Amino acid sequence: MSEPVILAIANQKGGVGKTTTAVNLGAALARKGKRTLIIDADPQGNASTGLGIAADAREANLYAVLAGTVSAEAAIQPTSQDHLFILPSNQDLAAMEIELVDADARQFSFRDQLKDASKQFEVVLIDCPPALGLLTLNGLAWADRVLVPLQAEFFALEGLAFLLRTLDRVKRGSNASLQLLGVVLTMYDGRNRLAQQVENDVRTHLRGRVFETKIPRNVRLSEAPSHAQPIFDYDARSTGAQAYAALSDEVVATLGL
Ligand SMILES: Nc1ncnc2c1ncn2[C@@H]1O[C@H](COP(=O)(O)OP(=O)(O)OP(=O)(O)O)[C@@H](O)[C@H]1O
Ligand SMILES: [Mg+2]
Repeated sequence: MSEPVILAIANQKGGVGKTTTAVNLGAALARKGKRTLIIDADPQGNASTGLGIAADAREANLYAVLAGTVSAEAAIQPTSQDHLFILPSNQDLAAMEIELVDADARQFSFRDQLKDASKQFEVVLIDCPPALGLLTLNGLAWADRVLVPLQAEFFALEGLAFLLRTLDRVKRGSNASLQLLGVVLTMYDGRNRLAQQVENDVRTHLRGRVFETKIPRNVRLSEAPSHAQPIFDYDARSTGAQAYAALSDEVVATLGL
């Protein structure tokens, strides 16, 4: 078994499309036959809900794995999509933000507890919560690459600059091999002049590290989680499905998968 690519999907700003990207990029990679694991690292549990894991089917969750009461292998569940698996979470995980503070090597809990089980996969996507707390830092300390969903709006660049400084700090501290895979513009509306301007600024500042693919604002993407389906099952012809398929092509090409 070879080592998987560990990809953290992170942005401390809330509601920018991290979970939508984790679920649908994950589904797109799985549809290409890549064995993919989504780790729901957010106590909100949105990725778990969006993939149809009922609340009472989450007793074996990421919190239990980190606490050592359940093995990662036992907590990982299949989804309705072939080759796509999830390690679910619920509110229990919120306690980890606090408990991890007292643990030794507190940024390395994900890596230490999940590394062995992850070897069954080609790609691991970590859906991070909207904060730069210990859960996100654990994701970043383990990841090879970071994918940053960015909503093209007024404060986006300031938030991005802060995130990039954090990535540098993690690189100098706990994970020297961490790299930015790229920024993906989400909920993009090309008719909005401000969105175009933010796009230009981001592409200028981060030459070559912004995906060509933009994820459009598409109501089908926001409806799919309530049907517990990735977008390809819910509406394969939607602009959202087409965009996430195109993003997965770019990700596969960039990573050489
Ligand atoms: N491209 C899109 N078009 C329309 N709606 C979208 C799109 N992407 C995400 N949404 C909706 O926007 C909301 C926020 O998206 P999502 O949950 O993916 O963001 P997030 O960054 O994971 O949020 P949080 O920071 O709370 O974890 C959700 O209701 C989602 O369905
Ligand atoms: Mg989320």
